[in-house]
Amino acid sequence: MKTRVIQVDREKPDAAAIEEAAAALREGKLVVFPTETVYGLGAHALDPIAVQKIFDAKERPANDPLIVHIAHIGQVNQCAVGMPAGARKLALSFWAGPLTIVLQKKPEVPDLVTAGLPSVALRVPSHRVARALMEMAGVPIAAPSANRFSRPSPTTAAHVIDDLDGRVDLILDAGPTDIGLESTIVDFTQDPPLLRRPGGITFEQVHSLVPEVVVQMEKGGADEPQAAPGQMSRHYAPKAELTLYEGPAEAVRRRIAADVRTATAAGDRVGILAPEEDLSALAPELAARASSGRVETVPYGSRSDLERSARELYASIRALDATGVARIFAVGVGAEGLARAIHDRLSRAADGRIKAVAGEKP
Ligand code: TXA
Ligand code: MG
Repeated sequence: MKTRVIQVDREKPDAAAIEEAAAALREGKLVVFPTETVYGLGAHALDPIAVQKIFDAKERPANDPLIVHIAHIGQVNQCAVGMPAGARKLALSFWAGPLTIVLQKKPEVPDLVTAGLPSVALRVPSHRVARALMEMAGVPIAAPSANRFSRPSPTTAAHVIDDLDGRVDLILDAGPTDIGLESTIVDFTQDPPLLRRPGGITFEQVHSLVPEVVVQMEKGGADEPQAAPGQMSRHYAPKAELTLYEGPAEAVRRRIAADVRTATAAGDRVGILAPEEDLSALAPELAARASSGRVETVPYGSRSDLERSARELYASIRALDATGVARIFAVGVGAEGLARAIHDRLSRAADGRIKAVAGEKP
């Protein structure tokens, strides 16, 4: 299949481009579109043949359910049975936006979409291009992130082309996405409601409206339907082996400097993924080693601007991976507010390789 890429203005998307994409979706084709979080790989959610193409294009296991995108809250009842008061509160506050709400599904939603679960995940994206597309298509759109399975989610059309060229019909390219991490998922089919995935809407924001919400802790088995994302190992994994360092910034930097010395002495090519302040602080240590061509560094935002860290995270992981390093040492930025989502994605990429570094004893 030849993939067509159309550039669209993110503020004022061209009506002809949106109409072409909407028609393609209605006909059962695959259309990649930007959302405020990451690019989505869309298909007509009520057409099982179209939905199957998503799993084929991504090489995604059938036990990983999809998020259904709708144009506005009025479309919820096309897919779900009822909406608990807490879910309605969240929808009224955070839709359109980076929030996904899990509700009891209607029989009209194919089992393929929900991996056989009795629930369906719904989201109203705020990106102008996505909204125009949802409205024009007039049907719910099932869309996972538009990456090949086990690759980081795409935040630019170039990432999508790297993973899916020749596997999708159309890509709407509206430039880099704003938030950079996937939506927050809250499951209202559980009592109390469960935060299944942290994202751009923080746990603290959800909690202020739904005080009973709890954070999901347990991990499911790889063969069960995936009620939460990334539970299969290597879900967000880069090709390189990533280790996440957590702890006071200064102590983490000392530890990484020591580990870089050991790794390069053993002949390993390593990369460092860190906020820009940390890379600056490490620069003197790395200067000697970088000249040997063995240490690659890529920043992801700044400790003073975690929104930028979130926005840049996946692109930075891809960039570091593209250098061909065998190992990545990643510096974490805590786990509250937006950092919770960053921590979640980095710890999944680390697949258990997390080093908690203690600070200096007083
Ligand atoms: O920001 C986003 O959410 C992006 C954009 C494209 O909207 N989409 C996205 O989709 O991240 P994806 O497929 O990468 O993540 C969907 C996750 C699944 O891994 C799944 O675990 C969870 O949403 N999910 C879907 N349906 C569910 C359900 N019925 N119950 C619980 N979790 C569900
Ligand atoms: Mg995904």
